[in-house]
Amino acid sequence: MQEFRDKKKRGERITALTAYDYPTARLLDESGIDMILVGDSLGMVVLGYDDTTQVTLAEMLHHTRAVARGVKRALLIGDLPIHTYDTPAQAVASARALIEAGAQAVKLEGGVSHIPQIEAIVAEGIPLMGHIGMLPQSVREEGGYKVKGRTQSEAEALVRDGKAVEKAGAFAVVLEIVSPETARQITNALEIPTIGIGSGEHCDGQILVTHDLIGLFPWFTPKFVSPEARVADEIRRAVQVFIGRTRSSKD
Ligand code: KIV
Repeated sequence: MQEFRDKKKRGERITALTAYDYPTARLLDESGIDMILVGDSLGMVVLGYDDTTQVTLAEMLHHTRAVARGVKRALLIGDLPIHTYDTPAQAVASARALIEAGAQAVKLEGGVSHIPQIEAIVAEGIPLMGHIGMLPQSVREEGGYKVKGRTQSEAEALVRDGKAVEKAGAFAVVLEIVSPETARQITNALEIPTIGIGSGEHCDGQILVTHDLIGLFPWFTPKFVSPEARVADEIRRAVQVFIGRTRSSKD
């Protein structure tokens, strides 16, 4: 984990993407990505749920095992789904299960509110990545995916969250949909790297949901993503070629 702090000191950007299955994990790993997250975004882009609030630990374990088989080099991080870290003891048990499934580190959502859980997991020797800003597991209470850190008081609260997560022992922290200026302030205030998603250019690294990057979930693309490929269009094209070829064949 020190390697990521050193990268921050040297000003080297950290790259991270999500994977939920063996072939994607293997392709990302072979391409040289630094971190692979089995995110609970699994629920939306793979399992067809409306949001991440229905994802279970059993589902995360199943997909973490598949991803682990494809990763040789990158740091593999497993996401703790909602209500699997409500208490420190539950957090430790859930984190251990993800590690047994093949993750090398875990991630949970929350700052100051979740310090006892973070400390308990780190005390077990399990590396932990924090996640502050917009917290998708709270999307129903929040009423949508809204930018965080636009006001002075929100910015100050987020800097406090970042510092608390660092002090509790996290090796990195995700900043999700945080205003770029606040993301810059948090990044400057911390020694651990910040990994941004929809939070501007000032973070120490960037993470995306792979399906968004490669255009594999065409029904919704977050505003901050510029897809680099149109894989869904390629699938549709190949399927239509196959349908046409099969229907026109005489044998
Ligand atoms: O679940 C996920 O994919 C995430 C990333 C968006 C950071 O938490």
